[in-house]
Amino acid sequence: MATAKSDAFVFFGATGDLAYKQIFPALQALVKDGKLDMPVIGIARSGWTVDDLRKRAEDSLKEHGGVDKAAFAKLSRQMQYIDGDYGDAQTFARLRKALGDAQHPLHYLAIPPSMFVPVVKGLAASGCAQGARVIVEKPFGRDLHSAQALNRTLHRFFREHDIFRIDHYLGKEPVQNLLYFRFANSLLEPIWNRDHIASMQITMAEDFGVQGRGRFYDEVGAIRDVVQNHMFQVLALLAMGPPANRSADAMRDEKLRLFRSMRPLKPEDIVRGQFDGYLKEPGVAKKSTVETFAALRIHMDTWRWAGVPFFIRAGKQLPVKCTEVLVRLKNPPQQVFDAPEGAVNHYRFRLNPDVIISLGARVKEPGEAMKGRPVELVAHRHIRTGMMPYQRLLGDAIDGDSALFTRDDCVEEAWRVLDPIIGDKVPVHKYKVGSWGPKEADALIADAGGWNDPKVDVPAKAGK
Ligand code: BG6
Repeated sequence: MATAKSDAFVFFGATGDLAYKQIFPALQALVKDGKLDMPVIGIARSGWTVDDLRKRAEDSLKEHGGVDKAAFAKLSRQMQYIDGDYGDAQTFARLRKALGDAQHPLHYLAIPPSMFVPVVKGLAASGCAQGARVIVEKPFGRDLHSAQALNRTLHRFFREHDIFRIDHYLGKEPVQNLLYFRFANSLLEPIWNRDHIASMQITMAEDFGVQGRGRFYDEVGAIRDVVQNHMFQVLALLAMGPPANRSADAMRDEKLRLFRSMRPLKPEDIVRGQFDGYLKEPGVAKKSTVETFAALRIHMDTWRWAGVPFFIRAGKQLPVKCTEVLVRLKNPPQQVFDAPEGAVNHYRFRLNPDVIISLGARVKEPGEAMKGRPVELVAHRHIRTGMMPYQRLLGDAIDGDSALFTRDDCVEEAWRVLDPIIGDKVPVHKYKVGSWGPKEADALIADAGGWNDPKVDVPAKAGK
């Protein structure tokens, strides 16, 4: 497998939201670490000049992590900008020229999925795909059919190991820690199965709306935006079997096995919601039925998980910004002492905005009576250290290391599960801004003890 380092970094969507929030800060950090010694070429169709792009980068850095004078000056010198339409051969001819004698350009498609195909075709027709790698930003297709078509198109011009499907959740320290905690310890594995686990749930709550991304979001919705990718990746790390080793393919083989065991969803396994006021967001269709909230129940047909329900809940305009996993254990077979309602033991993994791993248990209250109360044994850390997810992932892609990227077969299996319920297959229920979503979502999980609503007392800013 060719692992030559990339020698030019090209990003489509250079004037967009993703570049502003994530790519510029990652690029400056990579320059600072001496990992981005190459031309950096931004492409968009905004009528900008390279100075506009530099200004945009500076504004982005001021807002996201700060300007490092030396690194930013170097990044500015490396920057070029091409203004053009993605359907126009001229745009790609100019890119070819700007690439000069670069042998292994890395093309990052930080653009809406509807533009992927014209761009890869343009890259190929102009010779810019030669020896190149491509980073594709999720969602990877809109459903199984379009994901297969996208994979076929990408494979016409790029080999699978040159395709980097970015899911920034995989670049997050707490998410990597989930994998580490499961398989670097021996304490979980003996109980991590249907004999001991009653249910698992993941909540990804955000206390804001679509933040000016209405046009993009209305093409996508919560299931395509965060469930098919971020939430399924977290679910895979929670439920997959132990990988044979730490290689990229050993990990991805286990994830694939898990996705394959998941039953395709039925309408009764999903509740969709839309926050009040979504229809007034700029870029959103007046009668849009796109969901800003989704709650799902998932079943896996494996010896390990048969009969154990898994739940995912993701939504915008909820009360807090927090991503948290709750694993409920089965109760003791006999309640010798006081018998409380619900599960007495759980594991809780918080991934955002701070990191928590905790074990919920009951302890005896001091006194004559054998009465107890719930306690949590908590390991807690603020997210202050470690690389930003995009810095980590872009650095890996430049090095040709695909361990933290998603493989074609995993993407397609995830779509196979979601395909039957994607779009308007089930109604969308309105919910109030600042609530936990439509009440219909409660029924989905009622038999498994209800939703865990995370309580957050750290500043949300620390989270990304
Ligand atoms: C992005 C989605 O992939 O993830 C956004 O497009 C979402 O809609 C974001 O807000 C959440 O990421 P994080 O790292 O803040 O949990």
